[in-house]
Amino acid sequence: MRDFTFYAPTEIIFGRRAEERAGQAVARYGGSRVLIIYGGQSAVKSGLLERVENALKSAHLAVKTLGGVQPNPTLSFARKGVLTALAFQADFILAIGGGSVIDTAKAVAIGAAEPSTDIWTYWQGKAPVQKALPVGCVLTISASGSESSDSAVLTDDAHHDKRGINTPFNRPRFALMNPELTFTLSPRQIACGVTDILMHTLDRYFTPMQGNELTDALAEALMRTVIHYGPRAVECPTNYQAQSELMWAGSLSHNNLTGLGAEKEFAVHQLGHELSGVYGVPHGESLSAVWKAWAMYVYKQDPARFARYACNVWRIDTVTDTDSAARQGIDATVRFFARLGMPTNLPELLGRPLSESELHDLAERCSRGGTRTVSKLKPLAKEDLLLIYTAANQPAPSSGKSPKII
Ligand code: NZQ
Ligand code: ZN
Repeated sequence: MRDFTFYAPTEIIFGRRAEERAGQAVARYGGSRVLIIYGGQSAVKSGLLERVENALKSAHLAVKTLGGVQPNPTLSFARKGVLTALAFQADFILAIGGGSVIDTAKAVAIGAAEPSTDIWTYWQGKAPVQKALPVGCVLTISASGSESSDSAVLTDDAHHDKRGINTPFNRPRFALMNPELTFTLSPRQIACGVTDILMHTLDRYFTPMQGNELTDALAEALMRTVIHYGPRAVECPTNYQAQSELMWAGSLSHNNLTGLGAEKEFAVHQLGHELSGVYGVPHGESLSAVWKAWAMYVYKQDPARFARYACNVWRIDTVTDTDSAARQGIDATVRFFARLGMPTNLPELLGRPLSESELHDLAERCSRGGTRTVSKLKPLAKEDLLLIYTAANQPAPSSGKSPKII
């Protein structure tokens, strides 16, 4: 086996009514003045916000709330959160929501711990994060895995620049995970989440460094589970079995368990982040829209790996021809996205094809002005990224699509 470090310190409290344990959990991690951060409306409408506030107050904790985080959360809102945390003298940040809220909470925790440094400095890679207030979360959507990941993604709204940072300071102290909280999600939001969960393992699985067999087997089992339960949750959002399997898969898919011993690839995420940064599209949709173009561009680097994926995840017979099996695995994945109602190319994502100059702009951004390559499986320079965006800009042939669930 190849060497690895596995660090997943987040305490997971999983199951019905988990959110009622917020007060004890915050107190256990030393919080006494808690800034709750939440999103638009869902946590208010469902009564979740009120329930959590009550749980904190019952534990004799001082509470302040800050709502209004938007999907693809912004730097400007996070800066506002830092000021709020400082004014309240918060010593604990509690997120109620999904990736956008949790990532904002992580940014606020970093900014409030070191007020003399503007938070974007860290996202630009100009300084390492040295400290952060403790963060906990009440998860309401299975998708980003932010509830246990070391990453936080923000968009600099002034420049449409979406990027993430990875640091151990981003790991939440605890995640309260009640699958019933996801019952109010729309089928489209669930489908976006399913895509993101799958992609966190796909982006780790297709790597030049292989050989940790148990890690690969866990990755394949996780993907089969998501493929099995994803459509069931989309069809029936109140299906507890499906939602609970997805919720746990979401955390395991992004706490690095499925990528031990390998460097994270995340090419598809990088391609997608530019689409969300410029066009504001949901994260999951940004991924499904470029996955096929990426896969077709890189699979010849390692057709055997793609064939193994086809066999072990999609149960496609690989005996006859490796190349054909690899392509069948790619097709099966694209059909799965289509069945969930996810876009599988840019015209489907944006309602129109992009112009040449828009495609160039995306490649320019993704390569940071030609200064970096993305991925190790096949290092992708600006010209490669342009070819992938251009391939994704072709509409899908009309035949052979699976019927959509939503
Ligand atoms: O704002 P509200 O009203 O709560 O509505 C949200 C939002 O509109 C809604 N929602 C959430 N829980 C709900 C609900 N609606 C009804 N019932 C519920 N129980 O869902 C919408 C999307 O929420 P959001 O938090 O944006 O979704 P997600 O969890 O997919 O997070 C996406 C963000 O996470 C980043 C993405 O880039 C994107 O910015 N990611 C973060 C990662 C990380 N930190 O590790 C990794 C990921 O790859 C990803 O990049
Ligand atoms: Zn993601």
